[in-house]
Amino acid sequence: MSNHVYHQDALAIQTWIVQLRRQLHRFPEVMYEEVKTSQLVRQTLDQLGIAYQHPLAETGVLATLGNGNGPCVALRADMDALPIHEETDVSFRSEIAGKMHACGHDCHTAMLLGAARLLKEREAEIQGTVKLIFQPAEEGGAGGQRMRDEGALENPAVERIFGLHVWPQLPVGSFGSRPGVFLAAAGAVEITVHGRGGHAAMPHLTIDPVVVAAKIVTELQTIVSRELDPLDPGVVSITTIHGGEAYNVIPETVQLRGTIRALSMKTLQQMQQRVREITAAVAAAHRCEASITFPGNDYPPTVNDAQCWSVAKQLAVELTDEDHVQELPPTMGGEDFAFYTEQVPGCFVAIGVRNEEQGAIYSVHHPKFKVDEDALPLGVALHVAFAMKSLAELR
Ligand code: NI
Repeated sequence: MSNHVYHQDALAIQTWIVQLRRQLHRFPEVMYEEVKTSQLVRQTLDQLGIAYQHPLAETGVLATLGNGNGPCVALRADMDALPIHEETDVSFRSEIAGKMHACGHDCHTAMLLGAARLLKEREAEIQGTVKLIFQPAEEGGAGGQRMRDEGALENPAVERIFGLHVWPQLPVGSFGSRPGVFLAAAGAVEITVHGRGGHAAMPHLTIDPVVVAAKIVTELQTIVSRELDPLDPGVVSITTIHGGEAYNVIPETVQLRGTIRALSMKTLQQMQQRVREITAAVAAAHRCEASITFPGNDYPPTVNDAQCWSVAKQLAVELTDEDHVQELPPTMGGEDFAFYTEQVPGCFVAIGVRNEEQGAIYSVHHPKFKVDEDALPLGVALHVAFAMKSLAELR
């Protein structure tokens, strides 16, 4: 481990950071319900003497540090949990049945509070403004978009933004990211196939939506395999199929749901268009009708500014060493940090939390997802270092 000054400062408050993280972990709250989480963030900011605006985007908090005399850099954390029932063996397991911090947003919030504390101690050195964005509803609720639309990047105007995500594929003590597109554009799809139900013994008197739904699922697979440029990645995953109640009854309707992903909005929209056309045509070919919607929020791709990544990468190397900072390939995961980087240059960095001895080996969104908490002070240090370095560069 390094003797980098920000890492040393973060290690000195490690217990405090870990306590905050565990408190958040025990009481997970899902999108736009982050009431207690938001309260804990504000209480902590109050204790630190840091000013903030609240509410933005229902439960969001926007804190500000510095003398305002210079550039403005933002650091961001998401606060929401997932509707997953926790199955880990940690002592600070979720106390809310069916809800869990299975994507590590408890760690993100705790790391940003750690950064808040260190930046407050160094506030005299801040020539400009550091904004701390604590946002709700990353998981499907586009909380980042709402924070942005409610002015989180204005007054003063943010010139650079930085965010971290825990990464169970990377060992603890390491970082990774890349310039350009890092995470995918992603959206949901819902299809209802309408047929005509009846007795399963007399299929000729019905219009069977089950067979048609099965055909739609397989036909949609040709979008990626036969229509997309093989060098332009895409995903169509149908993940739920619901229809019918009894083994001897052909149902009236079948519902399909899934996700569509690509590395650009253009390809995502092209794929949505083809999902619409293929679904309608397959249904029509078999006397069914299909209704198709793309509910919720389509997330744009998360695009890292090359200069921001170069700064973050250099700082990450200083905090660890050359062998512990990787250029990662893009992934098809989605992330609403993308809404900020649509507007200002930024960088989203993966922080390693994997530790096989601790059983921290499961992917995010898994009920046994765990992190090695030794990552937290490193993340705090990178937040602080990115803010200070960027302010100096932008002056
Ligand atoms: Ni996440």
